[in-house]
Amino acid sequence: MVDLSTNCAGIKSPNPFWLASAPPANSGGQVQRAFDAGWGGAVWKTLGVPIQNVSSRFGGVNIRGVQGAGFNNIELITDRPLETNFREIYETKKKYPKHAVIVSLMVETREEWKDIIKRSVDAGADGLELNFGCPHGMCERGMGSAVGQEPRVNQEITSWAVEYSTVPVLVKLTPNVSDIVPHGLAARRGGAHGVSLINTIKSIIGVDIDRFVPEPRVSGLSTNGGYCGAAVKPIALHMVAQLARSKDFGIPISGIGGVSNWRDAVEFILLGSTSVQVCTEVMLRGYRIVEDMIEGLEEYMRTHGFSTIDQMVGKAVPAYSEWGDLDLNYETVAKIDPQKCIGCHLCVTACHDGAHQCIHPQDSPAALSAIQKGHATKPNGGSHVRVPVVDESECVGCNLCQIVCPVSGCIEMTKVENGFSASTWNEHVKDGKALRPKKGAH
Ligand SMILES: Cc1cc2nc3c(=O)[nH]c(=O)nc-3n(C[C@H](O)[C@H](O)[C@H](O)COP(=O)(O)O)c2cc1C
Ligand code: SF4
Ligand code: SF4
Repeated sequence: MVDLSTNCAGIKSPNPFWLASAPPANSGGQVQRAFDAGWGGAVWKTLGVPIQNVSSRFGGVNIRGVQGAGFNNIELITDRPLETNFREIYETKKKYPKHAVIVSLMVETREEWKDIIKRSVDAGADGLELNFGCPHGMCERGMGSAVGQEPRVNQEITSWAVEYSTVPVLVKLTPNVSDIVPHGLAARRGGAHGVSLINTIKSIIGVDIDRFVPEPRVSGLSTNGGYCGAAVKPIALHMVAQLARSKDFGIPISGIGGVSNWRDAVEFILLGSTSVQVCTEVMLRGYRIVEDMIEGLEEYMRTHGFSTIDQMVGKAVPAYSEWGDLDLNYETVAKIDPQKCIGCHLCVTACHDGAHQCIHPQDSPAALSAIQKGHATKPNGGSHVRVPVVDESECVGCNLCQIVCPVSGCIEMTKVENGFSASTWNEHVKDGKALRPKKGAH
């Protein structure tokens, strides 16, 4: 029996899946429908002084046929009256006492922070999230990422919030910085109970090449917006992991950025997230995606022997290290399974033009020569003569052929027993430890 419940910085929810602060968490009706669908928590669309939004405001990129694989917005915070939001937060919390309702906030002065925090706590918020991440519109007014990019201001405003709040405070960080760690540490110094990241990445999603205007277009002009969706996951995972492994950090993380399915969520948890927030995928496919997320996470936990989320949090962090600590003597080569190969030769092209020119058509002179020298094996038992040949004496084990191969499990990267014991760059520099001869340096 697995237990999906989680406690992120003192905010409890029946599962780790939270709606991120964004349009899907804009109103009581929406958040309640999301809870009915299975979401464990919701971070309410950022409250502040209600503002005006523009039309249009979203943009999407189609990456190789996947609509909205990257997404961008120039929307600001809530444009609904604060009283309406607080009333709906109160009603939602009363109806769903076990679900987490976190209220995202962004205001300017100390007095405004004091007032809005009191009203959020009075409305029943289980936690607060300080939006120090919005990269457009609000930062020009000295809020959002303008705060998140300045550790001193981040720390100070966080300390006000912690002073005024009786519930846990999460600081939502901006990815629009060169190193996330000083910003996480600033939040921690300010007394934050946890952080959430990432907010959106400053971007221009595309250009209307007939009208000569970037997108999204507001009349004849556009502006930079915030990038998110599946395409940003690698950036978000890196930032989460950077904080999770920082020895001085040590407070909980709510992971956000490109989560589309249970597997993405597991990756965020293994790199240190105690809860996982989702925005774009819900905007594109609706609240019901959480059903698969719950089912997939449960199954993953069962098959990997985890009974609680806590057991998973940060499990992959110790394996995230510096380049200088990697074993330079570890060596792999590509092996093609002739039974699975369909002879498409995508690997041949990729290796020839993008790697080390060591996968060859079976009947080519290069293949025959490699086989003759004992550097390659003649494909045995394949269904056709188009199974290519890997010259292992030249293969540097870069993975490119495996990445382009359309058949799962057809190309495996296999360890070579080269007789060299492990040696890292740091050890090599310090003690002169031997490194194996370089391949592919012709
Ligand atoms: C249309 C839109 C509006 C957003 N509004 C807010 C907001 O009001 N406050 C906030 O903290 N983040 C806001 N975000 C950022 C998301 O909460 C989230 O951090 C980001 O989209 C990355 O997650 P994703 O890849 O799952 O979308 C917004 C994102 C989008 C797409
Ligand atoms: S792993 Fe890289 S170098 Fe080796 S065969 Fe594949 S693409 Fe070529
Ligand atoms: S890409 Fe895969 S399936 Fe295609 S030829 Fe290469 S090994 Fe065979």
